[in-house]
Amino acid sequence: MVYTPQLRELMKKVEESRSSRVGVVYPRMSPEERREVLQKFHPDYIEDGFRNIEVGIDKGVRMPTEMADIFESYSRLKLNEIDLAAEPDYDVDVLIIGGGGAGASAALEAHKAGADVLVTTKLRFGDANTMMAQGGIQAADKENDTPAIHYLDVIGGGRLENVPELARALVMDAPLVIKWLEDMGAMFDKKEDGTMITGHGGGTSRKRMHTARDYTGAEIMRTLRDEVYNKKINVVEFSPAVELIVDQKGRAAGAVLYNLETGQYLFARAKTVIIATGGSGRLHYRGFPTSNHYGATADGLIIGYRAGAKTIYADSIQYHPTGGAYPPQLLGLLVTEKTRGLGATPLNINGEQFVYHLETRDVESSAIIRECEERGLGVPLPTGITAVWLDSPLIELIHGEGTIERQLPAMLRQFQRFDVDIRTEPMLIYPTLHYQNGGLLIDDSARSSVENLLVAGETAGGIHGTNRLMGNSLLDIIVFGRRAGRNAAEQSKDMNVPEGLNLDHIESYHRELEQSGVPADRVGPMLLPHYTHR
Ligand code: FUM
Repeated sequence: MVYTPQLRELMKKVEESRSSRVGVVYPRMSPEERREVLQKFHPDYIEDGFRNIEVGIDKGVRMPTEMADIFESYSRLKLNEIDLAAEPDYDVDVLIIGGGGAGASAALEAHKAGADVLVTTKLRFGDANTMMAQGGIQAADKENDTPAIHYLDVIGGGRLENVPELARALVMDAPLVIKWLEDMGAMFDKKEDGTMITGHGGGTSRKRMHTARDYTGAEIMRTLRDEVYNKKINVVEFSPAVELIVDQKGRAAGAVLYNLETGQYLFARAKTVIIATGGSGRLHYRGFPTSNHYGATADGLIIGYRAGAKTIYADSIQYHPTGGAYPPQLLGLLVTEKTRGLGATPLNINGEQFVYHLETRDVESSAIIRECEERGLGVPLPTGITAVWLDSPLIELIHGEGTIERQLPAMLRQFQRFDVDIRTEPMLIYPTLHYQNGGLLIDDSARSSVENLLVAGETAGGIHGTNRLMGNSLLDIIVFGRRAGRNAAEQSKDMNVPEGLNLDHIESYHRELEQSGVPADRVGPMLLPHYTHR
């Protein structure tokens, strides 16, 4: 009985209109309408949340203020705390920083190519946004679909701003990725005859979303992690990289790791380095709650940038339309897009639909914000915020009783814990900070602008333009994770052990910070959000 009597009264309007909405498709917006709602309501267009960074290789580039602040930070490391002339604590061909889906995929491919690999991860192996991804992974592997059609959806969703060669790599590798995962034991949803069940996401013109119920990311991460352990690849947990190390020519040559348990700094030397540390939702841009895991604090972006890696679309952030809004324990947590893929629709306080339920995420979120902020038709919550309904019971009317339990078991349980039964009661949702569309610039081999430094997963930018579609992130972490692992391993074969290791780039970065007047107590990467119990 978490819904208050007032909410239950308002809910009646949703119930009253429900049967008349079955089978009725709300009109999609025209390109002009999309542009207008984005420009007025999408947080990326609201100028006061941004500023230009004043130091580093991309000096002058626009970023969310919170990102610019942490980019403009001093190293955690006092430069005399580590002796790079000493024997390294780890000495490998390929150092992979990050233990989510991209890091694990990179590790498997680098190992397969014969490299000596070390994976280092801030928390436990698998504590990553991959694990929390719910709705699915896209791949054009059905008869009515092709990678070319997938490509058109990707760049349409990305506002035509995707780096073409990256979008191409994404869609071309996709069918192989599904097979690769299946061969390792990933269990995707299938029909009785063994064919994959695939569905729609926002902005997809074909049903190509492959799912494992509504915990697809957990199933993929389980598969990858098991395989890394099976191959006996070395994984060091609770040891985030806090700085890259470079060689005498400024090429990546390892990293300084910080042991969270002992407080010691360790030194890993490597011929090639892959950053796969994920996103930055825990920076809470514009005060938004987030669907991201606790470690999503932009660490890889920062250490890569300090070493000279260029960024792309650093000012492009994704707000997922359906973050939990009530009960407060679910604030910001993901309500998977699969819920809308199955037919659930957003409704205002009057029980009326106000936007097509599968617009691309940027447009859908902006329309929800408009409904609450401009039109004043949001549902007021006891917590003081407004939200809109997401009519999940409609799913049972469309597809039959039992669909939610079968297809959305994690969602069902997530709300049941707070006495909300989403089979009979609609959810309350509002956009949540979900994804960083931009990141460090890579090419289609996953190479950054710094030699011997590769980047994969959410830390990389350009693949999705300025708006990613659902299911293309689980895909990109694997596509570019694998490419990064393979290329790093191949490259390492022809390399000698790096020499002249140094942290000179940190010294010069500090000088720039001082010249810009950045306060000396601003230190990064932050590693964990300020509200985390240490
Ligand atoms: O809504 C979701 O399930 C999220 C998927 C994604 O970001 O790809």
